[in-house]
Amino acid sequence: MSSYLISGGRPLGGQITVHGSKNAALPIIAASLLHRGVTVLRGCPDILDVRYMLEILRSIGCEVLYQEDMLRIDASEIDLANLSRECIGKMRSSILLLGAMLGRCRSMALDYPGGCTIGARPVDIHLAALEQMGVHIEEQDEAIHCETRGLLGARIVLPYPSVGATENLMMAGAMAEGITWIGNAAKEPEVVDLARFLEAMGVTVYGAGTERIGILGKCRLQDAEYTVMSDRIVAGTYLLAAAGTGGEIEILNVAEQHIHCLLHVCEAMGCQVRMTDRGIFLKSARRLFAVEDIHTQPFPGFPTDMQSQLMAVLATARGETTIYEHIFENRFRTAEELRKMGADIQIKNNRAVVRGAAKLKGCQVSARDLRGGAALVIAGLMAEGDTIVENSIFVERGYQDICKDLTQLDARIRHCRDAHKGRIIGK
Ligand code: UD1
Repeated sequence: MSSYLISGGRPLGGQITVHGSKNAALPIIAASLLHRGVTVLRGCPDILDVRYMLEILRSIGCEVLYQEDMLRIDASEIDLANLSRECIGKMRSSILLLGAMLGRCRSMALDYPGGCTIGARPVDIHLAALEQMGVHIEEQDEAIHCETRGLLGARIVLPYPSVGATENLMMAGAMAEGITWIGNAAKEPEVVDLARFLEAMGVTVYGAGTERIGILGKCRLQDAEYTVMSDRIVAGTYLLAAAGTGGEIEILNVAEQHIHCLLHVCEAMGCQVRMTDRGIFLKSARRLFAVEDIHTQPFPGFPTDMQSQLMAVLATARGETTIYEHIFENRFRTAEELRKMGADIQIKNNRAVVRGAAKLKGCQVSARDLRGGAALVIAGLMAEGDTIVENSIFVERGYQDICKDLTQLDARIRHCRDAHKGRIIGK
């Protein structure tokens, strides 16, 4: 089991450029399957979830070349017969293949997608909407069997602005007859990034970033070259790590409007935040303050993907903060690990009450999911003494090389493939 070994108590400092966005790269890679030709992506992060996705593409016959941060996908020929079921089971984003593949192959069987166990994560919204587009769906033996005589544009109103369902329908819409309108669509920046990529391929998209998205189907597709947006969740994680350790940091490539809500919370905790010529600068205070209730919400609200990291920082903020998790019900499992480090966190249903302790103490903790793992890394950086964060594999799903980045920011952290052979780093 691999782990992070962290020697805490040092303020983070310095500048950093964050890598490309996981949540943008995954749907864009899926969308490359729409085109019988070549896609070149730049800024694609080298993280486990991207590797699983590329494994799936290779298993169906795509030629994939991944060098540095340049990814070339040739999807001229595909054959679903050898689809890698193992990789499908490892990541939730494999559901995004449905929209793209149905447009191209008309039938597909997909095992229920996996991913972090942060909640029930059903796919009913995806399936009901695809049915409206002329897909016949049968759920059997833990697999989803889908078939269509041809996708049809439709007016769909989502019961919830699901990010994945919006993206799936945008891809299906690109191959459908006529226009597909998605009402109550997700407005996340990654949805907009997918729209920009589809446009680069030759698809006409209306209204991405608003609650009503239109996709004109059957456009003539072309080879495309595209740069994936930077990862706002990684940027937010590093900002919070600086906030929690009393440090100061400049993130060079993140858009303010992508993390506006988080910056607002950082200011409320007592951090100074300002935009610079090159990005965003944050300077922490000696001790942070608790903030008003936090509710996780779809964009532009507070992101569920930042909730665990914020909880770690609030664990030593003066006062009491209540966090409501409205999106993924199991995200609070990280609280149990933070408690081992001295945090005072009470959980009741989807509500966590965090009472700021004077300090956290390093110890051995275990990541349970991707963002929760990042939260434990932040807690380790904040804590007195040494921390081992086990199961670092969760963090590797979404952070390209968190140890390298944090070391660049003056942290003492290293990755150990076998925790039991590793020694905690000395001061
Ligand atoms: C995406 C992000 C994830 C982020 C989440 C919410 C990717 C690869 N992942 O996940 O990091 O935390 O958005 O911002 O982009 N739901 C249903 N039925 C469905 C689909 C969703 O009930 O068919 C529910 C989910 O269980 C969850 C909520 O809707 O409670 C939001 O899910 P959704 O927006 O679909 O998240 P993902 O696309 O899975």
